[in-house]
Amino acid sequence: MKKLLITAKLADAGVDALRKHFEIKIKTGMSQAELKEIIPDFEVVLIRSDAKIDQEIMDAATKLEVVGRAGAGLDNVDLEYAKTKGVKVFNTPNANSNAVAELVFGLMLSLYRNIREADLTMKKGEWAKPQLLGQELNGKTLGIVGMGHIGQIVAKLAKAFEMEVLGYDPYADQTKLKEIGVELKTDLNEFLGAIDLLTLHIPKTKETTHFLSTAEFAAMQDGAVLINCARGGVVDEDALYTALESGKIAAAAIDVWEQEPEANDKLKALPNIIASPHIGASSRQAQMRCVFDLIKSIFDFYGYE
Ligand code: MLT
Repeated sequence: MKKLLITAKLADAGVDALRKHFEIKIKTGMSQAELKEIIPDFEVVLIRSDAKIDQEIMDAATKLEVVGRAGAGLDNVDLEYAKTKGVKVFNTPNANSNAVAELVFGLMLSLYRNIREADLTMKKGEWAKPQLLGQELNGKTLGIVGMGHIGQIVAKLAKAFEMEVLGYDPYADQTKLKEIGVELKTDLNEFLGAIDLLTLHIPKTKETTHFLSTAEFAAMQDGAVLINCARGGVVDEDALYTALESGKIAAAAIDVWEQEPEANDKLKALPNIIASPHIGASSRQAQMRCVFDLIKSIFDFYGYE
């Protein structure tokens, strides 16, 4: 039996299904050094956003045949190097999309209706009703950067809230977006200046690193709102700190961080930010889809039934 290492919590039913063909070790919360030490024993490793499968890890992983990424993002796997090593990499591109899109709306409603403040003040014994005047989503203009699978689900949900939806995505199919009521903008500054709130749904690549920085925040409307459930690093956290502190950006909800799991202490301490620990994909349903999508790819690869 081949040996399979799991570095993050995966749905139990999936782990049980894997036991049919693999000897499994589950070790979560490892540092990169700990991962490097144990990986030489394994033919397969399954990760979420927790572990980096970089050159150093792959050089140590002398038996490694397959990396399974339970999730869409592949920025924590060196794909080019994996190719040179003959290591097959599988991810689960659409398994998490709905979970992420729904979290975006949870955060949006929380930001505009002060849900977090309502709870915190109630628990402190306060009745802060007069201070908790919020705003409706209905009629607001939502900007979506990245009109892939997640961006399109976000757009459809936004339409149900009767929001205006503008999209920015140089690679998007305009006809498809028109059908769901998204107006695609090609000029980034024009797009940023036209929206009340912005949600990002792009991967982290060389091209998208610090996609939002000082100049982009300056191009946004005063008092705009930002949600990032995409990837840490697509937003320049220093620039965001300045924009939130000055009130240029009224509020933000940040689920993903340039450094995880450390996150950015200074940024997350601001009162006008809702911080969460990369939970976009963390719904039972998404986790189930992720693990079974991976199992299908891995079983097909090895010819297992
Ligand atoms: C994804 O890329 O789909 C997420 O990062 C999954 C995760 O939480 O690991």
